[in-house]
Amino acid sequence: LNNGLARTPQMGWNSWNFFACNINETVIKETADALISTGLAKLGYVYVNIDDCWCSIRDLKGQLVPDSKTFPSGIKALADYVHGKGLKLGIYSDAGAFTCQVRPGSLFHEKDDAELFASWFIKYHRNKWALKLVGHSLHCPIPGKGVDYLKYDNCFNLGIKPKERYPPMRDALNETGRTIFYAICEWGVDDPALWADKVGNSWRTTDDINDSWASMTTIADLNDKWASYAGPGGWNDPDMLEVGNGGMTYHEYRAHFSIWALMKAPLLIGCDVRNMTAETIEILTNEEVIAVNQGEVHPLSVGLLGAWGVFHFVEGRKVYSSGTDGCLQVWAGPLSGHRIVVAFWNRCSKAATITAGWDALGLESSTSVSVRDLWQHKDVVEDAVASFGARVDAHDCQIFVFTVHSAYHSEI
Ligand code: DGJ
Repeated sequence: LNNGLARTPQMGWNSWNFFACNINETVIKETADALISTGLAKLGYVYVNIDDCWCSIRDLKGQLVPDSKTFPSGIKALADYVHGKGLKLGIYSDAGAFTCQVRPGSLFHEKDDAELFASWFIKYHRNKWALKLVGHSLHCPIPGKGVDYLKYDNCFNLGIKPKERYPPMRDALNETGRTIFYAICEWGVDDPALWADKVGNSWRTTDDINDSWASMTTIADLNDKWASYAGPGGWNDPDMLEVGNGGMTYHEYRAHFSIWALMKAPLLIGCDVRNMTAETIEILTNEEVIAVNQGEVHPLSVGLLGAWGVFHFVEGRKVYSSGTDGCLQVWAGPLSGHRIVVAFWNRCSKAATITAGWDALGLESSTSVSVRDLWQHKDVVEDAVASFGARVDAHDCQIFVFTVHSAYHSEI
């Protein structure tokens, strides 16, 4: 969606994967605090996104009303708290009669609801001059500044096609005059990659993720199919991260994070950031892997890399597989400055060596490449030619940056 947002995939936290309906304003505030104290916010995780269950009813005036037991201070107060920390708030609704947890949905109420959300997101500041003039505090909105976020779900949709239900909320958000990140959550129904780039800043390519190796690998493959459709302004969304929720091993979570970063997926943390293990923190704060996700790939450089053969678009993808059922995999994608991200993903049940031949990466076999390992944080090879291989544990993923430094440059 051409609203100036999502130049890179969104980063932040969302309540659903860990808390489901067990949310309240304390959890959200403490999460905002933890994003700051753990250093996650500084690394780019700035959206604090409330998922389903914040709303109880639509009142007689037609306005959505936050659950008075769990959000007694209201969402505006929460937005102010989150903004006060330099973070952004995300809210949730549904392009249907009800949300999936049977709270009021926004279908046919798009205008009213968009206005309400925008009114919460506006940041107020004390106007010093007005304060002097009238002698008491006046609050003035800062127009057009800051950004906030709507995730828009797909339950109780009355059988109406997503293509018809999602644009009205885009238009309603646009009419508020505030630029709001619009995350479409239509679960991959009706192949959103083919139409949603004009509707939202990201679109779900699949059904919900769960905290298991089987779900995570299946979703990676389903998302991979749409790699050519993602780019600045609109990203494929293979759903939120499960890192830190306990259902996968350290290696499996490392693979999940590496591949999500490489696929330019939204990096939305889905665990309880108030209680993370050292391993979870290590994974989520790997700056080199985050940079793979957030580094802008200039369209021109994608074109240039295209001249190398395999990278015609910004999202990384599976470029090679071998072994039983293709369980030894090489995933790769373009980065800026003659660099390529390459991941070796071992989905087999035993450790194995995975090798990337230059042909799979679209490089001439004589091309010389230096290799940096993003989990070890080490330059591992100075001058690889023709291929590069590494031993990878079962269910682990190693992720590398290849810098191409042979005569090949001069030909571009
Ligand atoms: C379905 C969505 O896909 C999930 O991410 C979550 O938002 C739930 N609905 C909430 O009910």
